Amino acid sequence: MSSLYYNNTMNMTKNTLFTHTPVEFGKDTYIMAIESSCDETACAIVKNGREVISNVVASQIKTHAQFGGVIPEIAAREHLEAINPVISEAFKQANLKPDDITAFAGTVGPGLVGCLLVGLNAAKTLALVYDKPFIGINHLNAHICANYIDTELKPPFIALLVSGGHTQIIDVKSYDEQTILGETIDDAVGEAYDKVARLIGLPYPGGPLLDKLAQQGNPNAYKLPDAKVGDFDFSFSGLKTAVLRLVKSVDINDEQVVKDVCASFQECVSSTLIKKVKKALEVSGYKQVVIAGGVAANSEIRKKIFELEGFKVFAPPMKYCTDNAAMVASCAYFNTNTYNDIDVEVFSRA
Ligand code: KG4
Ligand code: ZN
Repeated sequence: MSSLYYNNTMNMTKNTLFTHTPVEFGKDTYIMAIESSCDETACAIVKNGREVISNVVASQIKTHAQFGGVIPEIAAREHLEAINPVISEAFKQANLKPDDITAFAGTVGPGLVGCLLVGLNAAKTLALVYDKPFIGINHLNAHICANYIDTELKPPFIALLVSGGHTQIIDVKSYDEQTILGETIDDAVGEAYDKVARLIGLPYPGGPLLDKLAQQGNPNAYKLPDAKVGDFDFSFSGLKTAVLRLVKSVDINDEQVVKDVCASFQECVSSTLIKKVKKALEVSGYKQVVIAGGVAANSEIRKKIFELEGFKVFAPPMKYCTDNAAMVASCAYFNTNTYNDIDVEVFSRA
């Protein structure tokens, strides 16, 4: 518990560009951000941290589906092909020119190194060519900031971050100060979804498909184990093994059986997540909670979090849950602990 959110070795610098009250100076702020940490090449322009002016995402899902997962080398090459058209489209949709942009932001990490390099270098190049500030962003932090888009959310709040690579409960004390209360000790939720989906023969990424099947199944059909770990920590590898055993013992060719397995798995994951979020809310005393990351698109997790009584709940619309650049631009506006050195290098792990 209480580890600092940024536990990598790079120096964060104070972003003195934005004070969170730019309107005071009577000037609107337009940030163009680029995201390329995994298999989405994305570019967006966001006004004053909350208003999305343009949002373009080129997904590589079709390419990687045939391999059952993301192939980093292929992903990096596809980013190279997509990056220029995606940036041009973001300017076009916004009807803005590079000179209208206040600052250029890019994801620094965590993510796939070859992929990150493409987007980050594009953001740096735009900043250098048009003589504008550059802001480097942490991808996980950006997912949380997706909740600032089109809302009036202000810290403090508890964040449940659930993505393909991470599962964390975070105490967001202020725009800049956050503490990880707990995280997964093995698989991330999205990873567990994708692995279980593969077990039952669904194509990559299996998470959204598994979610769809689960909605048609009985969540109480099979009892699956809830791991015993620390108050705010998670473990999903035992659950994954239990599903593997279950799949071997039932008739997997029966459509209803598959739906019941999916529903039982989804029930186990979502109730574990919500139980721990509830505890974090109790301990912190906060009255606001947000979900973030690709798995925040999950129907059952959304349903359960919105059922929490006595709390203001925020969940980004689906398009801002999975990887996108609008969340990166919002983060560049709100969070002043960023990587602003134009020489900053990408990093793979948080
Ligand atoms: O945040 P994200 O787009 O990429 C990472 O930063 O990891 O998350 C992708 C993950 C994948 O594992 C995908 O299967 C999962 O989010 N996902 C879902 C749903 N939609 C996306 N998992 C469960 N239910 C969904 N509806
Ligand atoms: Zn992500």
